[in-house]
This record gives sequence, C-alpha cells and structure tokens, in this order.
Amino acid sequence: MFRSSRVLACAPHPERFGPAFTFSTTIASLVRVLLWLVYLFFRRRMSTSSLAVRPQTDVVFIDTLHLSTDVGLDCWKRARAQPVEVSVYLHLQSSFLTAAGKSDDVLDSVHYGQLSKAISNRVAGSTFGGVENLVAAATDEAFALAGKAATEVRVVVNLPKQILLAEGFIVDITTPSDAPSSPSTRKVSVVNLILPVVIGVNPPERKAKQRVITNITFHEHPGDRPMLGYPEIVAGIVKDIESSAYLTLEKFVWEIARAACLASAEIGAVTVVAQKPSALSFANSSGVEITRRRVDFVNS
Ligand SMILES: *[C@@H]1O[C@H](CO)[C@@H](O)[C@H](O)[C@H]1NC(C)=O
Ligand SMILES: *[C@@H]1O[C@H](CO)[C@@H](O)[C@H](O)[C@H]1NC(C)=O
Repeated sequence: MFRSSRVLACAPHPERFGPAFTFSTTIASLVRVLLWLVYLFFRRRMSTSSLAVRPQTDVVFIDTLHLSTDVGLDCWKRARAQPVEVSVYLHLQSSFLTAAGKSDDVLDSVHYGQLSKAISNRVAGSTFGGVENLVAAATDEAFALAGKAATEVRVVVNLPKQILLAEGFIVDITTPSDAPSSPSTRKVSVVNLILPVVIGVNPPERKAKQRVITNITFHEHPGDRPMLGYPEIVAGIVKDIESSAYLTLEKFVWEIARAACLASAEIGAVTVVAQKPSALSFANSSGVEITRRRVDFVNS
C-alpha cells in the first residue's frame, strides 16, 4: 500500500497539459493500477510458496502391498519367486480430489482398492525379467485406472531378500503421464547394509571390528533401459570394505560413494549414509552422510 500511494502521487497533474494529456494520463494511471494488481497477485503467490508446501498437490497412494513374484535371481542366485513390497503414488492433476472432498463419493476419486487388486492380479503368477519390469507393470495399471487424472506415477518396490547383507533393496521410479516410456527418475537404494568394519581412532577400535550400518542410494540418469547389476556392484563394494580399515566414517562413506559412482556411466550421483551404533554410549548411533556426483570423481 505504501508503495502504491507513492507511485500514484508521482503521476503528473493533468491540468498542466490540456485534454489530450488528460486522456493519456488516465490510461497511464489505469496501467499503473493494473500493474499494481499484478504485483499484489504475484506477491500473494510468493508468500504462499514460502510456506514450502505445494498447494493443491493431490496424491492417492498404496503403501506397501505385500506380494510374491519372480523378478529375476534372488540373493542366493536362484530364479524363483521372492517377497516384493510395492508402493504406488498417484500424483493427480491439481485439485483433482476437491470433487471427492465435496461429494464424499469414491467414484470422484481414484479407487485404490481397485488399483491394489489390479496390481496383485497382474503380478500373481507372472514372471518379470527384472524389477524394472515389475515397476513398469504396476505403473501401467495405475495409468490405466487413473486415466487423465494422473500427471505422474511413482512406484517404489522393495525386495527384502535381494541383497545378502542388506535388509532392503529399493527401486523407486517416477513416470510422467506424457512420456510413459521414459521414466523421469530412477533411484535405487541398498538399505541397512550391515558390515563388521575396523573403524575409529581409539585404540580398542583398531583391534576389533564393529558394526557399521550403511545406506547407499544410486541416482541413475533418466532413461528406459534395463537396470544395472546392483547385486554385483554392491558385492564389489562390500569386498573392498571387508579388506580395508578406516580411521573415520568420513573416509568410509567417501570411498563407498567413489566406488558406487564409478561403477557405471549411467549413475549420475550417489548418496551414502553410514552409522556406527556402538560409537557413543548414550546415543543410538553417530553417523555421516554425503552425496557426490559421478563427475566429482571422473574429473579428479
Ligand atoms: C536407511 O534407510 C532406512 C529406510 O529409509 C532407514 O530406516 C535407516 O535408518 C537408514 N539407515 C541409515 C544408516 O541411515
Ligand atoms: C534407539 O535405541 C533404542 C534402544 O535400543 C530403541 O528402542 C529405539 O527404537 C532407537 N531409536 C531409533 C530412532 O532408532
């Protein structure tokens, strides 16, 4: 308000200039008022976005559907069904759920019960040549059911029995509706990899191995291609760790990030988090996290 009154006060006085000027200064004032309204509009929008929420972002999701299917070799290199946990997030058109919010009628939304059934049916008795094909099938079913309502579908699949020394192997793929054959992001995480490691600067820590719990997240370049051989990549990293000793967790995570980034040109970046649960007596653990891009290691 302060600014508007200053702007308007600066307008030239029409009586100094005759009728033609009166007309054009009226137009100019109108333009100024319009600009002011536009400014107010954007200022409001900016203050909304400073809330750090994306307004009217509507999602329907299924959290952890427990299934069993053959997605390739399991942790013992056997081709057989293994447990799979599938989560699906339908990112909907802006404000899509307002209709169902008002009507209280599930027909105005996307029926997650039907989606869950459709995915279970598709998976039952099928064999997938890789976890990415299972993700593609679930994504298909989600788009088929949601139709134009979905702008993108995110599918997260956890294979708890895929990596021998880890509790989980999570593949997280988001596919936009306008380019269903080229998933926009593919994130692969090895969760709670538990390894005994010689690590630390205190004399007792040099003598005995202690548990280190690590998460490694690989960010792949976007693209529609088969998954990298993550079990082999992780096995290689584990082998290096087992034959090494570290003074710090910083060195430990940095070495893992380097090896993981260099494992394939398809990997854009890697995040590594590691915790030492035995380090502090009165805290659950201490830990370190780093994220590095492949170029950070290729160019140095
Ligand atoms: C790894 O990720 C899982 C699941 O997100 C989390 O529960 C766990 O605390 C993480 N572990 C570490 C070492 O950060
Ligand atoms: C911390 O450790 C305690 C005792 O072992 C456990 O009950 C608790 O769940 C742990 N907290 C977290 C956040 O892991």
